[in-house]
Amino acid sequence: MSTSQDEKKKVVLERVTPESLKLYAPRLAAILCRQITHQNRSINFLNPFSTSQAIEIFENASSSLTKSGAGRKIMWVAKLPSSETDTALKSLDMDGKETDHSEIVGTVQLAFHFSPNGVHRTEVGKLIVDDRYERRGIARTLMDELHRTAKEQGSTLCLLDTEAGYAEHFYSKLGWKLSGYVPGYAMTPDGKEKRDAAFMYLEL
Ligand SMILES: CC(C)(COP(=O)(O)OP(=O)(O)OC[C@H]1O[C@@H](n2cnc3c(N)ncnc32)[C@H](O)[C@@H]1OP(=O)(O)O)[C@@H](O)C(=O)NCCC(=O)NCCS
Repeated sequence: MSTSQDEKKKVVLERVTPESLKLYAPRLAAILCRQITHQNRSINFLNPFSTSQAIEIFENASSSLTKSGAGRKIMWVAKLPSSETDTALKSLDMDGKETDHSEIVGTVQLAFHFSPNGVHRTEVGKLIVDDRYERRGIARTLMDELHRTAKEQGSTLCLLDTEAGYAEHFYSKLGWKLSGYVPGYAMTPDGKEKRDAAFMYLEL
């Protein structure tokens, strides 16, 4: 594919406000639901869970988005470029009901630590891409912006934990280092198995 075609496929990032979060949360919940039910990924919930529980997990970030000091969060969504919004794939929630904002295809949160001796520390949360749009650089675009912003705002150390295996490989590609594994950290969505977690860090 030529560079100009690649450029056209680039997602557009938007900083989320408490107001836009209210509008976007049902779509973000639908993305989360797909990753759990279609890809069997260990993210927060056990099956079955409800639409409102999934929406709440994003809306919980709302009050931190307006904070200015320690404990603040920054959240982004990735939207399809205008050339693709008309053909965006349908977004359905847990009950099979269509949601708005099918142009949103990914999200991530950056949390600044709240204790005085850790204000240089940040944490990555809720990096999730619609599984139908994986492997086209959406998470990388979100993480590049997260790294840039964290550094610009004085963070020198970023941390995260993730399911050992595939997501760990993704972060390694972006320069993250492995601190270590914790065995049996999170259950699979069916609650039958416990998966290991990889704890990782990036010096900014
Ligand atoms: C992990 C996740 C965010 C990756 O999103 P994505 O948009 O498909 O990732 P990208 O296309 O930006 O990939 C960036 C790089 O990582 C690599 N990568 C992505 N997924 C990978 C996988 N499953 N295994 C190995 N490498 C992977 C890509 O090949 C790419 O490398 P390249 O640029 O050298 O080709 C997505 O699969 C997801 O939402 N998973 C569920 C939620 C989750 O686990 N989040 C992370 C933990 S909090």
